Amino acid sequence: MTLESNGGPGLDGEIARLGPWFHNLHLADGLQTAPDHPLGDFPARKWKELATALPDDLRGCRALDVGCNAGFYSFALADRGAEVLAIDHDEHYLAQARWARDRLGYNGRVELRCLSAYGVGGIEERFDIVLFMGVLYHLRHPLLALDLVSERTAGTLVVQTLTMPGPEQEEVPADLSLRERGRLTEPGWPAMAFIEHHMAGDHTNWWVPNASAVEAMLRTTGMRVVDRPGHEIWVCERERGSHHREELDRANGRG
Ligand SMILES: C[S@@+](CC[C@H](N)C(=O)[O-])C[C@H]1O[C@@H](n2cnc3c(N)ncnc32)[C@H](O)[C@@H]1O
Repeated sequence: MTLESNGGPGLDGEIARLGPWFHNLHLADGLQTAPDHPLGDFPARKWKELATALPDDLRGCRALDVGCNAGFYSFALADRGAEVLAIDHDEHYLAQARWARDRLGYNGRVELRCLSAYGVGGIEERFDIVLFMGVLYHLRHPLLALDLVSERTAGTLVVQTLTMPGPEQEEVPADLSLRERGRLTEPGWPAMAFIEHHMAGDHTNWWVPNASAVEAMLRTTGMRVVDRPGHEIWVCERERGSHHREELDRANGRG
C-alpha cells in the first residue's frame, strides 16, 4: 500500500515531533515514518500476508481496528471502501494516527477513539471486520479481551499475536482426569507463558501463547478459524454466540 500525502514544508520535522513510530507509513514524497524499523517495512510486510484473505471490496462494511497504533491497517481497510472505527488506549499513537489520517485524506472514513480493548464491551455496534492485531500479548487479561472483541464481531475477526515456538496440537480431549495432569506439559498442549518482567525490553508484554492456545481460546469465544494466511495470523468467523455472556456482562458492569 502506498499512502498519498499532501506534502508540505516541515513534514520530516512533524514526523520527528510525533515519534517514536511503530508503524512505518509511506508518504508520497518518499518520506517514511519509521524507515529503520527492526521488523523491516512494518506493517506493510504483514499486510501483504493478510491482504488476500480479506475481500478487495469492503464498500458498505464497518470495521473495528483494536490497538490501531498509527492507523496503517485502518487506512488499508478504508482504501478498500470500509468505514473504520479505530481505537487505541495510547494517546501517543492516536496523535500519530490523527495526524496521518488528516494528512492522508482518510477523514470521514476512519474514526479514531481513545478506548481500551476492554472498553469494546461498551460499544453496542457489531462489525463486519474486526482486527485484533498485535494486542493480545500486551494484555494482562487476554481471554477477557478476546471474548469482548469476538462479541463485537458479526463477520470476520483477524487475530495476530506473538506466539511461543513449538508443535501444534490439533485436538484436545473433552475431559482429563486429575491423574493425567502430566499431559498439560506435553509439547503443543494449549499453553501461555507468563512474562513477569520484560520481553524485548517491554514491560507490557504479559503473555505469550502457543498456536494451540490461540486456536483453543478462539474456539471458546465462539469463533471458527477459517484461514491462516501468514505467520501468527488467524482469520476467524463466528460459529456460535458466546457461552460466557453473563461473565462478560459482570466484568463490564453491564446489566
Ligand atoms: C504491537 S502494537 C500493534 C499495532 C497494530 N495493531 C499492528 O498490528 O501493527 C500494540 C498496540 O496496541 C495498543 N494497545 C495495547 N494495549 C491496549 C489496550 N489494552 N487497549 C487498546 N490498545 C492497546 C498499543 O498502544 C499499540 O498501539
